[in-house]
Amino acid sequence: MKLAIIGAGKVGGTLGRGLARAGHTIHYGARDPRDAKHAALRDHAQVGTPREAVETSDAVVLATPWPATEAAIAALGDLDGRVLVDATNPIGPGFVLTHGHTDSGGEQVARWARTARVVKAFNTTGVETMAAPRHGDARAAMFVAGDDAAACEVALGLARDLGFEAVRLGGLVRARVLEPTAMLWIQLAMVRGLGRDIAFGVLRRGGGQ
Ligand SMILES: NC(=O)c1ccc[n+]([C@@H]2O[C@H](COP(=O)([O-])OP(=O)(O)OC[C@H]3O[C@@H](n4cnc5c(N)ncnc54)[C@H](OP(=O)(O)O)[C@@H]3O)[C@@H](O)[C@H]2O)c1
Repeated sequence: MKLAIIGAGKVGGTLGRGLARAGHTIHYGARDPRDAKHAALRDHAQVGTPREAVETSDAVVLATPWPATEAAIAALGDLDGRVLVDATNPIGPGFVLTHGHTDSGGEQVARWARTARVVKAFNTTGVETMAAPRHGDARAAMFVAGDDAAACEVALGLARDLGFEAVRLGGLVRARVLEPTAMLWIQLAMVRGLGRDIAFGVLRRGGGQ
């Protein structure tokens, strides 16, 4: 699949490298594609402007800091029904969620990107696990939420290609669950001191689905 990754930072670069390894074609969209900091990405991908990346893509991964996200989406132009996989977390000043309970960042992204089919995914674990989802004998889970079943299948497939156990939660409204789950990960990893090499998985007794 041809993927545009908007935000060539830690998340974008990690997902892009893994997905390129899995056979996808990656085109990063960066504000300054010629910046020397993007040179390392060129061994597995093209780097262009966000609009150039979108124009060559079947689906788009959004991995921008929350305060930059509205402007980043506005710069993409018409997404024309493309799948937009939203990996952001709506974290504002004071390191708290700016949306919750009755709204979510994922739903806000869908309001900003009206012509896209938005799916929330890749927001509930750190880049260390995105690079290597296997933790011993277990696979980390990647939770996916979106209203369009076919769009969710795209995100679930990307998660599986990286090596995650991909789990669909339901509609995009479930981003209201996934974004606080990211805060739980941050609390455990960074505040509680368990470190960044932790991930959520699903334990099943008796082989349940
Ligand atoms: N880090 C994690 O483990 C993790 C895990 C799950 C989810 N997340 C979420 O993923 C998002 C990205 O996090 P990150 O850690 O990857 O941040 P990061 O390393 O700071 O990368 C963000 C990237 O976005 C780019 N950017 C900023 N504004 C842009 C715009 N208007 N158009 C295109 N690109 C733009 C930045 O480019 P410049 O260098 O040009 O500013 C930078 O390359 C955040 O919402 C975060 O909450 C992070």
